[in-house]
Formats: sequence, structure tokens, C-alpha cells
Amino acid sequence: EIHPAAKEGSQAVAQQIAALIREKQAANEPCVLGLATGSTPKYLYTELVRLHKEEGLSFKNVVTFNLDEYYPIEPDALQSYNRFMKEHLFNHVDIPEGNYHIPDGTVPKEKIKAYCEAYERKIEEVGGIDVQILGIGNNGHIGFNEPGSNINSHTRLITLDNTTRLANAYEFPNMSQVPRLAITMGISSIMRAKRVILMAWGSHKAKIVRRSVEGHSTDQVPASLLQQHPNCQFVIDEQAAQEL
Ligand code: GLP
Repeated sequence: EIHPAAKEGSQAVAQQIAALIREKQAANEPCVLGLATGSTPKYLYTELVRLHKEEGLSFKNVVTFNLDEYYPIEPDALQSYNRFMKEHLFNHVDIPEGNYHIPDGTVPKEKIKAYCEAYERKIEEVGGIDVQILGIGNNGHIGFNEPGSNINSHTRLITLDNTTRLANAYEFPNMSQVPRLAITMGISSIMRAKRVILMAWGSHKAKIVRRSVEGHSTDQVPASLLQQHPNCQFVIDEQAAQEL
């Protein structure tokens, strides 16, 4: 789906999410969302907050699972995805506190494996993710699943590519402070979502969008593995579509 710009694309995605939240409310069921961070979903969250404030969209039945978090990182650090989600969404809507889940960047290393397994279990217990929102890294990563991530991978600790650390360095005082590790949901955790919406804005994403959509489905370009998902949509702007 190609929109003139990020604003229109994000509004369209927000409308789809709002419709699903309302549909689930009417059926008295939880609406389970997989959420992403980075610059890409910012306008989507602004729009969801607007729908809450101006159109009475309630998040009381919404349960969320975030894709990833740096490791190690304190939840209130400026660059933490825990902080990002509170600032951009959770502090501004009526989602109950126990309903949102974001990987914890402070779990001791020896407990990470069990922590990640429990994260996956929580997703299953609530019935699986209804809609997974994704951005895309310049190297094709989704969440922090870097090139080479196996299609069967689960939530786990991963080593960040240097290209990813460079791309995200602007968030940190200097490159040496960008964490080398992250906790990320796996490709298989993402593939199990009932529906996936990947968003991409700007000409700097055009090349990787083309490789993901038109190239071979390969773990060297993690987003291209989404070609194997039965209900996946790329919502992009004209600039990100310019090489298609
Ligand atoms: C980050 C995140 C991803 C995100 C991607 C793109 O490192 N871990 O979830 O989709 O890279 O970032 P941006 O949206 O800022 O371009």
C-alpha cells in the first residue's frame, strides 16, 4: 500500500488498528498488538493517542508485546525502548499497566534464556498476536533480527550488527555507548502473528524495501522472510516505493 507520505500511511494503519480494537471490544476479547520502536512508528502512536483523546478509542482491552530492547539498558535511560513506549503511547492512553510488555534490558545474563522463554509463553497464553507492527532496518532487520537470523528463531539475546549500531548512534552521546547486544523477539515469533504490517518511510528505505519485496526470500534480508507470511502488508510512502 503506497501513500503520499508517512503521515497518511500512519493514519491508515491507525484506522486499521482502531477498527480491530473496537471489533475485539464488541466481542469482549483482548486485542493483542505487537509493537515496534524507532522513528518509523512515531506518527502511528501520535495518531492512536489522538484517536483516544478525540474519538474515545479505549485501550482497556489492548495487550501489547514490544519487539525488542537494547541490552543492557536501564528502563528509564533516554535511549531505552521502555521509555520510548511510555513517552509515545502508554502514558497517554488508558491501557492497564499490566497489559503492556517490553523486553527488560536489566535481566541478569544467566536468567535471559528463561526470561525470553517466559516472554514467548505470555504471548501464547493471551492467544497470540493479532497484528504485528514492524519497521525495517537499513540491512533488512525486523525487530533486532539481524541478517542471518533463522526463520525458526525465538525471543533471544542477539549481537547487533555494526551497521545497526551506526544507524542508531544518533540516539547516544557517542558510538562507543551504543549497546552491542539486544533482546529481540525472533523471526518465528513474528511469523506466528495473525497479521503483519511493516511500515517504511523515506528514500533511504527504498533499496531495502525493494530487496525485501522483490528479492529472494532469504535470511540474509530478514524482512524478505515475510514473503512467506500468509497475511503481511507493507505500508510505505512514495519515497520508499521509488525502486519498486
Ligand atoms: C531499530 C529497531 C527496529 C526498527 C529499525 C528501523 O533499530 N530495533 O525495530 O524497525 O531499527 O529504525 P527506524 O524506524 O528509526 O528507521
